[in-house]
Amino acid sequence: MEKRSENKEPLKIYIHTFGCQMNENDSERIAGALIDQGAEFSPSPEESDLIIINTCAVREKSEEKLYSLLGRLESIKKRKGLKIAVVGCVAQLYRSRLIEKKPFIDFVIGPDNYREMKHIIADHFKEKIIATSWSQEWHEVSHPQIFRESHISAYVTIMEGCNNFCSYCIVPFTRGREKYRPMENIIGEVKYLAGKGYKETQLLGQNVNSYKDPETGMGFSGLLRKVNSIDGIEWIRFVTSHPKNFTIDIAKVMKESRKACHQLHLPVQSGSSSVLKAMNREYTREEYLEKISILRDLMPDISLSTDIIVGFPGETGKDYQETLSLLEKVRFSNIFSFRYSPRPLTAASLKKETVPFDQKKKRLIELQNYQKKLQLELNKSFLGRVIKVLCLGKSKKDPSLYSGRNEGYQVVNFKSEDNVIGHFVDVRIDSCGPYSLIGEVTQ
Ligand code: 5AD
Ligand code: SF4
Repeated sequence: MEKRSENKEPLKIYIHTFGCQMNENDSERIAGALIDQGAEFSPSPEESDLIIINTCAVREKSEEKLYSLLGRLESIKKRKGLKIAVVGCVAQLYRSRLIEKKPFIDFVIGPDNYREMKHIIADHFKEKIIATSWSQEWHEVSHPQIFRESHISAYVTIMEGCNNFCSYCIVPFTRGREKYRPMENIIGEVKYLAGKGYKETQLLGQNVNSYKDPETGMGFSGLLRKVNSIDGIEWIRFVTSHPKNFTIDIAKVMKESRKACHQLHLPVQSGSSSVLKAMNREYTREEYLEKISILRDLMPDISLSTDIIVGFPGETGKDYQETLSLLEKVRFSNIFSFRYSPRPLTAASLKKETVPFDQKKKRLIELQNYQKKLQLELNKSFLGRVIKVLCLGKSKKDPSLYSGRNEGYQVVNFKSEDNVIGHFVDVRIDSCGPYSLIGEVTQ
């Protein structure tokens, strides 16, 4: 950073993150690298020298959020002369076109170029820079440097990119092909986190089940076994799993490993085999349900969540009803549901949209209400039970309550006499809503 400022004032950075856990972890890594170079966090965009916006391109709406934030920042930039970096998936997608569209942007940096950020920013602070190249190698970030939001639960990236090309998805075009982090480095990072007192780790990647150690060829179930043997970490989770790559072997390791939470996010996208085929998902409704049944046979208490897209081109009323019936059959503890949004470069964007906007909207609202009813039923089955909860902080809505997650990754808000942040506690559940369980710490 010295080259940037002669008077040695630390660079003040402000980071705004859109999107998934991968983006959150990327922002933690970017912040860490810049802080290591002497930068400091700024409490607001107005007081910063550099605003970094980490973007998501997965749906049109995510992109619109970026433009509305940029609209607000443009006037601050005019007044204060600060620098703006747009990084992540939207940066990778539009490259120089982003600066053509919004000339007040200073840096456009794609997901495979974050390691360059500290140099770009130190050496070229006065120039506009576009860095969106790809490389096939894994670039390790020094993990002690990572600036983590939480001191209790830590994200650990194990792979990047995706080879699947689901027909609706922009990710393979923004994050490139799969590359895997050496297992030794993953284990080193988890051991380090355990030493720092972290209780939980979430292994991250677009498609974690296809993980393969570049040195030994060991797959994801082997990695899970190794992470399970690290003392200190109590709970292990992982996202995201593709149903076609989720094997019985992984399910067995989840069952056998004491620390792997009996919880799985397994995005189905649709309950109709013909829509799944058009989405290029490479499994049928029946195959998905078969995997769920095997998982439940092995782990009857497993908590499942999923992603759903409604209104994909060609989705008929019958296809949509099949999605509702799949929700009814599986009884997910949580879902993330979206209206189909055509994205540049994807195969589906060439298809004619057959479900009108209002119909998509109607289907989404109906589906979400249906799931809300199912979730409330499921949550009611917890009433009177005592469950183990990892306390992550205070409840945002009601600061008189603590908040955490149970093994199934459900939100649990609860009363406690003592400050239990960062601890596992037993909570007796005495009420619930569709999106949370509510209770009190038992003595
Ligand atoms: N339209 C709507 N939803 C999408 N997703 C990915 N691409 C699209 C799109 N074009 C959803 C999928 C995926 C989640 C991260 O975002 O459900 O699993
Ligand atoms: Fe996108 Fe499919 Fe890859 Fe997931 S598996 S990131 S939905 S292409």
